[in-house]
Amino acid sequence: AMVRHYKFNVVMKNATKLCSTKPIVTVNGKFPGPTIYAREDDTVLVKVVNHVKYNLSIHWHGVKQLRTGWADGPAYITQCPIEPGQAYVYNFTLTGQRGTLWWHSHILWLRATVHGALVILPKLGVPYPFPKPNREQVIILSEWWKSDTEAIINEALKSGLAPNVSDAHTINGHVGPIQGCSSKGLTVKVKAGESYLLRIINGALNEELFFKVAGHKFTVVEVDATYIKPFNTNTIVIAPGQTTNVLLKANHKIGNFLLAASPFMDAPIPVDNRTATATLHYQGTLASTVTTLTSLPPTNATAVSTAFTESLRSLNSKEYPARVPLKVDHNLLFTVGLGNAPCATCVNGTRLVADINNVTFVMPKISLLQAKFFNIKGVFTDDFSANPPALFNFTGSQVTNLRTTKGTRVYRVGYNSTIQLVLQDTGMITPENHPIHLHGFNFFVVGKGKGNFNPNKDTQKFNLVDPVERNTVGVPFGGWVAIRFRADNPGVWFMHCHLEIHTTWGLKMAFVVDNGKGPNESLLPPPSDLPKC
Ligand code: C2O
Repeated sequence: AMVRHYKFNVVMKNATKLCSTKPIVTVNGKFPGPTIYAREDDTVLVKVVNHVKYNLSIHWHGVKQLRTGWADGPAYITQCPIEPGQAYVYNFTLTGQRGTLWWHSHILWLRATVHGALVILPKLGVPYPFPKPNREQVIILSEWWKSDTEAIINEALKSGLAPNVSDAHTINGHVGPIQGCSSKGLTVKVKAGESYLLRIINGALNEELFFKVAGHKFTVVEVDATYIKPFNTNTIVIAPGQTTNVLLKANHKIGNFLLAASPFMDAPIPVDNRTATATLHYQGTLASTVTTLTSLPPTNATAVSTAFTESLRSLNSKEYPARVPLKVDHNLLFTVGLGNAPCATCVNGTRLVADINNVTFVMPKISLLQAKFFNIKGVFTDDFSANPPALFNFTGSQVTNLRTTKGTRVYRVGYNSTIQLVLQDTGMITPENHPIHLHGFNFFVVGKGKGNFNPNKDTQKFNLVDPVERNTVGVPFGGWVAIRFRADNPGVWFMHCHLEIHTTWGLKMAFVVDNGKGPNESLLPPPSDLPKC
């Protein structure tokens, strides 16, 4: 294994899209930021230097951070922010992990432009469990606002209303040819007969996306850096936070084909003019050749989304077994959703809020991990409830008051205990899936359904053999999803909706995992340059 050194200079940079220019926060002046390359078991050191006026932190999304929670990155959860003029070295090892992950800022809404790919190749000499591609290509999908994203979220918090939706989607930073404003967009060059591994990342703040290429099929081989049983599809569905690797065969002789990313939201949007496009260009194609377009699913194509997620199964081979916990120590049911809370100064007299088990999470003033490690009292309470305060009954109709309470509450478990967590969507306010992301672990998605979770009936049908293993899962609108994981990583681990606006409104909580008794079962001490609050 090797040690890989990277330097992230966080600087402002002007960017022009949709015919207008604004300054954005970037890593090394790039949007999206630089790709980090490593191999399984390598150690990665990234020195982040803050040259901007905002507080910063960087999260390595999907990296388990075994015993190194200090390098995980969510501000006020595992570290205090890196203040302007300060620096911090993230130091972590990619133990037993390979595949496509990504990194992003984990404070305010800076993730909008501060993100990039993390490509972990298998150990030297270890092949992929699928045919070797001729070439590889990172594809980062994202969202673009013409105005300043920090101003947009601050305005929304003041009014109590939802923030403005983005003005366009982007593919590797480009809105693409169909948006005009002379954006040529990304060109992916291919050669007839060759095959390509596309490493697709949804870096959007608030938008679940469809992804298609005209005239081509994908073979999906990996999600969230875990191998799956390969299957073919012409449409990818990907939620913010998720990553998907697909093989694409260049099975035409010549031509230009459009790649496109468009939103999925379970509800029809009258006109969507935000679709991002790029071009798949065959070597030898004449400049005059017309590009083949693709027909995208409508924004409410729930059946397309469901068919995709139901095709996902762990590879579960001899080399890559699915280690699903069969016995459960903590049996949890969390409701997730949105609601309204009274707000005298807001436009409608109410503000939008979000919660888990009716608790809107309040960010602490110092990080939870520091509070746990140094035993600082009064920062969090251990009383996050295993069940919702009142039995939730999904009826499909909206209610206006969730009676949310506030608190910095965590759920505490012992080292190596096993957790089954059913996430039940309350289906109120907006018809969206909630992509729930857990830090510090991968989990197995053992079940999923519509309406209310029924413990007696639904538990019988759980897949404990080859459920997909991932770090971010969509809780279906008006339905539930069940996950299992083993708490074999001591520390404090954030869990939240990866729609940034829902996180901002409070759809988040944390698990505290205590140290074990064995020699390699405790959280390591903090590095000396850990930022102070
Ligand atoms: Cu990718 Cu806590 O986030």
